[in-house]
Amino acid sequence: MDEDKKQPPRPIKPMVSKGGIALKGECTVAGDKSISHRALMFGSQVIGTTKIYGLLEGEDVLCTAEALRSLGVTISREHDKWTVIGVGVGGLCESLDVLDMGNSGTSTRLLMGLVTPYNFTTFFTGDDSLKSRPMARVITPLTQIGAQFQARDGNRLPLALKGTDTPLPINYTLPVASAQVKSAILLAGLNIPGITTIIEKEATRDHTENMLEYFGFNVQRQRLDDGSLSISVTGQPHQKLANYEIFVPADPSSAAFLAVAALICPDSDLLIRNICVNPLRIGLFTTLKEMGAKIEFLNERKIAGEPVADIHIKYSQLKAVTVPASRAPSMIDEYPILAVAAAFAKGETKMLGLSELRVKESDRLNAVLSALTACGVSARAEGDDLYVKGSPKIKGGATVTTNFDHRIAMAFLVMGMASTEPVTVDDATAIATSFPNFSDLCNSLGARISAPRPTHPSNPSPIVVAIDGPAASGKGTLARRLAEHLNLEYLDTGSLYRAVGMKVIYAGKDPSNLTDAMEAARTIDIEDLANPRLRQERIGQAASIVSAFPEVRSALLEFQREFARKSALSGRGAVLDGRDIGTVVCPDANFKFFITATLFARAKRRHKELQGQGIEVVFDSVLEDLRERDERDEKRAIAPLRPADDAYIIDSSKLDASEVFKKSNDLINKTIKNTSS
Ligand code: DC
Repeated sequence: MDEDKKQPPRPIKPMVSKGGIALKGECTVAGDKSISHRALMFGSQVIGTTKIYGLLEGEDVLCTAEALRSLGVTISREHDKWTVIGVGVGGLCESLDVLDMGNSGTSTRLLMGLVTPYNFTTFFTGDDSLKSRPMARVITPLTQIGAQFQARDGNRLPLALKGTDTPLPINYTLPVASAQVKSAILLAGLNIPGITTIIEKEATRDHTENMLEYFGFNVQRQRLDDGSLSISVTGQPHQKLANYEIFVPADPSSAAFLAVAALICPDSDLLIRNICVNPLRIGLFTTLKEMGAKIEFLNERKIAGEPVADIHIKYSQLKAVTVPASRAPSMIDEYPILAVAAAFAKGETKMLGLSELRVKESDRLNAVLSALTACGVSARAEGDDLYVKGSPKIKGGATVTTNFDHRIAMAFLVMGMASTEPVTVDDATAIATSFPNFSDLCNSLGARISAPRPTHPSNPSPIVVAIDGPAASGKGTLARRLAEHLNLEYLDTGSLYRAVGMKVIYAGKDPSNLTDAMEAARTIDIEDLANPRLRQERIGQAASIVSAFPEVRSALLEFQREFARKSALSGRGAVLDGRDIGTVVCPDANFKFFITATLFARAKRRHKELQGQGIEVVFDSVLEDLRERDERDEKRAIAPLRPADDAYIIDSSKLDASEVFKKSNDLINKTIKNTSS
């Protein structure tokens, strides 16, 4: 290939995860990936509109959406609602361009099925990892239906699929347990005259069947005498106009990482809501329960044909088990994180029959083995079986190679949460394919995941100081004094939320309306932060309201992190003050202070300050206002106000500003002196 025509190298993002933490609180995780892909694909096959809520907006699912658009389907997004205007069975049209499926094997294989019964050619490609994955398993049955393929050596992408307008219904016995192959054939079957049948000897994920039923297609499941399952779909149905709504439940494979993190970090207590608990997906939870994990399914119910529950997990002393090969299909994606759990369990855990792991996003069996060994865990592979010897203390301290595999990256960031030394992953960018807010969510529950601290040759250790505390605690005053004294850059992060509040109020809009708040959050710029209107009381109140929206918080998060990063890179360092700096924005800050004071003391301060500005207000209303703000700050679902576990707490009720400054400055000096001597 021509040298200068090569693709630019992908940016790499190493991440480090530190131990000594507990995960506490309530959360949910992003929508289930399998169900998200299928909601878009089946939505495209009806005549009518499908509204989808909670769709996983990871790169893989976005690839499916983009590919369907190229095939003539109208798909739009408004806030958290996705709308698919279906073209009906047989209604797709030829894509004018190559379909780039990114990293997504599911999108590729399912869409290959979908376009097989069409008289046009579709070209598929993907990233390096997808290009290395075998496609023979779908090519074989789709060829029997009538498709023709031109693929790279080894049946790999890029490939061209020439479809057919005379597709044949097949009766196909799955040679390997694969929900993707089954789904590809069922999707093709929708547009094949007659009945297409698949026989599976081992049960695989049945989201496709559940969703076919939910959308009213004629799908039959029948248990055969030899125990295998026959699944048939009747093709080319008569379709009537109908509209649908799907609420995508949260992904158990994503929840798995948080669950294991809570199990291995002492003192953890976590509730993960709205998880899809389809029996064919929860092999990991079954295994963890066998290992003695304290896991409870609460509030079990059904949503869009899928069983859903809230999952309560507490730190547990795990013991080793043997995981039978028959369980692999229900937890194939979960072995990397199970291996991490096994590393902390008493005894040797045996995971049998993992051949499928070798053809995932990477050769996961080898990747897991090397990463475990690098972290000081005694592990070995024999054939397709993995053996992991557990120990209560794992050293960690390694840099794990992820090969752009999201599950390896997340599994070993979880290992870092409970190991003695931090664990670094060489590249965490792949995490965005399935769990885009993984590290922010973990950090908001107590974890310490961050980019490795940058250093500058002229000043190898610029410091970042995080100061948090409730309104009127004196944290702003302290931050300014420290910034001046230590020559650090300063960011008052409250001013960002105030700027959002100001934009909403001055546009005559409602701060409690998410759309209005987000519109403002997207448009703030650096000049807004110097606007004197930010200090108005009503703007402070609006800021307090908008700051409770997770969407607003994540819109402002990168700006704050970038500020800290840049200041460290420039060699100067920074101080940031707010509510969640030590816990979420800069969990890796060198110094964390939590400045607090009684409500009464803070109200007195704020009252005096307002009087000084010539504003006459009664003391009780100042007190009431602060009480309301405290409540909003502390009770909000995301990044609530709380001291970081490693924060130095200063109660300023009886101290003046100089005393607070002296206490924190002394601590910084003492620590720097100790570490440099
Ligand atoms: O510190 P302040 O009063 O200027 O902050 C204004 C509002 O913004 C306050 O109600 C809490 C919110 N805030 C936040 O939620 N997170 C931050 N890091 C900073 C402020």
